[in-house]
Amino acid sequence: MRTGHRVTIREGTVAGRDFQVGTLSDIQGHCRFGDHVRLHSNVHIGQRSQVGNFVWIFPYVVLTNDPHPPSEVQSGVIVEDFAAIATMSTVLPGKRVGEGSLVGAMTLVRDDVPAGTICVGVPGKIVAETSKIRFKESGKLVYPWRRHFHRGYPQAIVNEWVQEFPDG
Ligand SMILES: CC(C)(COP(=O)(O)OP(=O)(O)OC[C@H]1O[C@@H](n2cnc3c(N)ncnc32)[C@H](O)[C@@H]1OP(=O)(O)O)[C@@H](O)C(=O)NCCC(=O)NCCS
Repeated sequence: MRTGHRVTIREGTVAGRDFQVGTLSDIQGHCRFGDHVRLHSNVHIGQRSQVGNFVWIFPYVVLTNDPHPPSEVQSGVIVEDFAAIATMSTVLPGKRVGEGSLVGAMTLVRDDVPAGTICVGVPGKIVAETSKIRFKESGKLVYPWRRHFHRGYPQAIVNEWVQEFPDG
């Protein structure tokens, strides 16, 4: 595990291998994280959130958990494998961010985000499938991001991804 400065991780939280947490992030208790999860700085993860493997969460994202605050209800957010939540987004309690999906910057996730889709805006709307997105410069497919982004992952995993996407 690697962290920046002034990170809080409360009791009962369990994380897998190669967990990275940026400066000033706050992980409330009883959360679960899979392997190779990356949290940037100033991320707030509410109690009982469940985050899968290879998830990216960018600065100032908030995963909430109390539907009618203040209350004793804790309905944690679920983030599935390979999902990415872009900066300053908020996910409402109990919502599921599906596998390989992208939540765009400054989005309010009010409904579940289906796997492989892009959700943007306030309130969040599904605007596209990730599989249709291409880099503007090269025209190459962006998602799943593991087809081209390998930095910092173990070589054995990178080898699997290269075999999965030989054309990058
Ligand atoms: C979702 C995202 C990838 C879309 O980028 P893009 O493919 O270049 O799409 P465009 O900017 O061409 O926008 C396409 C449409 O979606 C809308 N849209 C895109 N991102 C949006 C967002 N975050 N919120 C609201 N609407 C958005 C645009 O208004 C546009 O609609 P229009 O065609 O009616 O004008 C981008 O907005 C984003 O959030 N990137 C992540 C940035 C980030 O936080 N990175 C991590 C930290 S460095």
